[in-house]
Amino acid sequence: MKLKLLIPGPVELSYRVLLAMARPPMGHRTPDFEAILEECWDILREVFQTRGDVMIITGSGTSAMDAAVASAVKKGEEIVCIEGGKFGERFGEIARAHGIKAREVRVEWGSALEPEKVEEVVAESSAKAITLTHNETSTGVVHDAKAVGKIAREYDLVYILDGITSVGGDEVKADSWGVDICITGSQKCLAAPPGLAMVSVSERAWEAIDGNEERGFYLDLAAYRRALKKKTTPYTPSVSLIYGLREALRIVREEGIENRVKRHRTMALATRRAAKAMNLELFADEKSASNTVTAIKIPEGLTDDDVRGAMKRDHGILLAGGQAKLKGRIFRIGHMGNVGYGDLVEALAALERVLVKAGHSLNLGDGISEAQQIFGR
Ligand SMILES: Cc1ncc(COP(=O)(O)O)c(C=O)c1O
Repeated sequence: MKLKLLIPGPVELSYRVLLAMARPPMGHRTPDFEAILEECWDILREVFQTRGDVMIITGSGTSAMDAAVASAVKKGEEIVCIEGGKFGERFGEIARAHGIKAREVRVEWGSALEPEKVEEVVAESSAKAITLTHNETSTGVVHDAKAVGKIAREYDLVYILDGITSVGGDEVKADSWGVDICITGSQKCLAAPPGLAMVSVSERAWEAIDGNEERGFYLDLAAYRRALKKKTTPYTPSVSLIYGLREALRIVREEGIENRVKRHRTMALATRRAAKAMNLELFADEKSASNTVTAIKIPEGLTDDDVRGAMKRDHGILLAGGQAKLKGRIFRIGHMGNVGYGDLVEALAALERVLVKAGHSLNLGDGISEAQQIFGR
């Protein structure tokens, strides 16, 4: 049976995206393929809200994180990494793997960053760059990316933003927030197939990249820029995935980015309200709760299998579990991509039944009823 995915990526794909990929690969150094790339770049600039260059890398989101850090920061230099979850920590791991010194700003998992604390660490450092995971998927928290942009400008840092689970689902304004390198992944809010990463680069970041002579090879962003100028990619791109990405981006444009963000926010609010009405406790501080994924504590006395296992076995719906130290403590509902009212109502109704069956105290319909108030008429 095909499971319905309500995880924070990969997400369900539109039949349009699936059909777009069901055609033979074309030559990638041809005017026809150039036109496809140009259409993708165009829509991506709108989605990232940037006038800068946007490039497509064949690789998952992490490939662009790696490309950003290793291209913009020299070995031996320092980088400040804001860490409030598993993905925030990844930037520090990448930096260390490249011989770059990572200085962490530790944020409690589930809480929002405090700009003053970020500034304190930055002021003590000799960092050249700063990283932030905008939407920390592991904890369901969205951080204030704009506030970090101000600090980055003040201290002249290259600002690298992981927008892997926010771009195309929540508000991201790369240029006006002062983001120098903004990253996303195809399998998240854009609702494209997994396997592509997209990255925007500002003029400031290009200066830092040009000044770094040891940028690696395959993920050297300068190579992507040279190719971009010739309307191509440096190496053979994943042609079939790019067919899928173009169709997914057309869907994004048809919906309109503002409407899309609004829909994600509605889905997130409905999920949170429904969870509370089901006597569940949210993991993240509500003031900074993510608009693309909701983290919920597994109720006392219940196991991950009682909740997620039963959702999968009895209802064919896949939810995400907790990661790292949150394994077995939380479950996560992904409501990113093209998730709509019907998908969410189905998942929430199934969740109510699973919880009641497991002995959790709630009245069937309480969660759905709250969600309905949010969806409105
Ligand atoms: C916020 C965030 N950053 C980075 C990643 C890593 O992306 P990928 O698995 O595509 O390499 C993920 C994946 O879930 C993510 O949610």
